Amino acid sequence: MSGLFITIEGIECVGKSTNAKFISDLLNKKNIKTHVTREPGGTALGEKIRKILLFEQNDSISPLGELLLLFAAREKHINEVIKPNLEQGKWVISDRFTDASFAYQGFGRGLGFDQVNQLKQIIQNGFDPDLTFLLDAPIDVIKSRRKLNPNDRFESEDRQFFERVRQGYLQLASVFGDRVKIIDATQSIEQVQAEIQSYLLDFIEKTS
Ligand code: TMP
Repeated sequence: MSGLFITIEGIECVGKSTNAKFISDLLNKKNIKTHVTREPGGTALGEKIRKILLFEQNDSISPLGELLLLFAAREKHINEVIKPNLEQGKWVISDRFTDASFAYQGFGRGLGFDQVNQLKQIIQNGFDPDLTFLLDAPIDVIKSRRKLNPNDRFESEDRQFFERVRQGYLQLASVFGDRVKIIDATQSIEQVQAEIQSYLLDFIEKTS
């Protein structure tokens, strides 16, 4: 019996990690075992690649180089963490996955959909999340929640970059509407979690 794969997406400060934990706790209450992970990261090598991607200041990284690093980390994450946990029957919850590469590198950095999709085919060969929550909020709401780190290669990007990323995510949600559920992240945490819970209970029922 194989577990199911849930991902959480959205731009900075929308509450992805808090809600990854919320989803895991809810599944555990339903006697479903879980593994919570994140991208970039999730393995020792992935966490090293994460540090380079977020904080490398001395050497420049091109948009394509960035995408290749992300997929190098992802390949290991899928084969050594995500699939083995699914095969053990656990549900895997990942704070970000390949939709982030479409949104940030494809739309944000301007690489386009096709280049990201080509790498996706090579690395994932049809492997995709079963359910994705997209926590969506306008850029102003996000910027007012927390001071962004000026040393972070992504957080230091300008407003237009985040706007492209947000629009990218919304386009993905409209194309992959069966898999991607948009949650309005401007709501209170209680409202956000009530919505997630209702989708999740429905999903558990449909898949059991
Ligand atoms: P986090 O701080 O939300 O965990 O994410 C780290 C950064 O990595 C975030 O700014 C978005 C970026 N990122 C990409 O640009 N592309 C990707 O494919 C992933 C997984 C993350």
